Amino acid sequence: MQKLQTSDFDKISLTAFMVSLARRFTDIPYAKELAQLVELQRLIELSEPENQNKSVLLTARVEARYKAINQVMAQYQIAQVLELASGLLPRGLFISSDPNITFIETDLPAMIRCKQQLVQQLVGERPNLHFLSIDATSRPSQFLKSSEQLTPGQPVMILCEGLLTHLNVAEKQQVCANVREMLSSYGGVWITPDFIDTASLSQSLQDDPDLQKLLQTGSNLTGRSLVDNNFGTLEAARQFAYEQGFRVVEHSMLNVIDQLSCLEILGIDAEVVKKMLAAQSVFALTVDVA
Ligand SMILES: C[S@@+](CC[C@H](N)C(=O)[O-])C[C@H]1O[C@@H](n2cnc3c(N)ncnc32)[C@H](O)[C@@H]1O
Repeated sequence: MQKLQTSDFDKISLTAFMVSLARRFTDIPYAKELAQLVELQRLIELSEPENQNKSVLLTARVEARYKAINQVMAQYQIAQVLELASGLLPRGLFISSDPNITFIETDLPAMIRCKQQLVQQLVGERPNLHFLSIDATSRPSQFLKSSEQLTPGQPVMILCEGLLTHLNVAEKQQVCANVREMLSSYGGVWITPDFIDTASLSQSLQDDPDLQKLLQTGSNLTGRSLVDNNFGTLEAARQFAYEQGFRVVEHSMLNVIDQLSCLEILGIDAEVVKKMLAAQSVFALTVDVA
């Protein structure tokens, strides 16, 4: 893979291209268009295993988490969204077609610049779709960069998928502190599938040897282990969230099994996917606002 970045976190950005490739095998709006632009413009040169390896369970998980977040979002009447570590996610592109929603995509500087250029090529500029460089772990918090776009006194929906899973405990705590601060001043909710446990991950690795290969590629790229950086059990993940000051409501990822287009596109055995999703949840986290 071509080397684009240097910092420790920037190495995680390379995995955004891997999950974007997985989303090509789904019906998620704009997913194919974004992945095609990345390939056409050779933004990143993927070596053979990174480009060709498809893990059916990675694709199913990536599609499920995207759709499960959307399903939970629909339960809230919140018109301003702050998405952390957006990578090549197409959600902002899709949701900002509603002019009543303010959508702020954030990521590390190089990644968010790249994303903004791709989005502009696809749909041009939109007054309600913004791009900010925010390191989600930074203390003091960089989240306040978004205050210009956000309406004070209105709640905010914070999203993130596939970031916490790469971070160590101290880094996760920093993200939690930044989110807590934000929710304490605006109100709202943090929706994320990133509180995952190693036990369910190990089960998926057994069920799909290609996932094992892809995760190994990911670890080689990032220098970080997905297995070591996640929680031993789901109970430990819950406990961690409580200790960081959040109330948690869990939504099973099984709720979106009927929406998964990749099952048919890739000919995936629904039972294996059901087993994986049964062990995974999207957390909706809130704080008590004084
Ligand atoms: C696995 S990718 C997921 C991207 C996207 N959320 C998705 O689901 O396709 C991880 C993302 O985290 C971003 N990232 C890594 N470290 C970060 C940090 N400290 N703050 C914000 N974003 C970060 C990377 O640039 C990359 O886009």
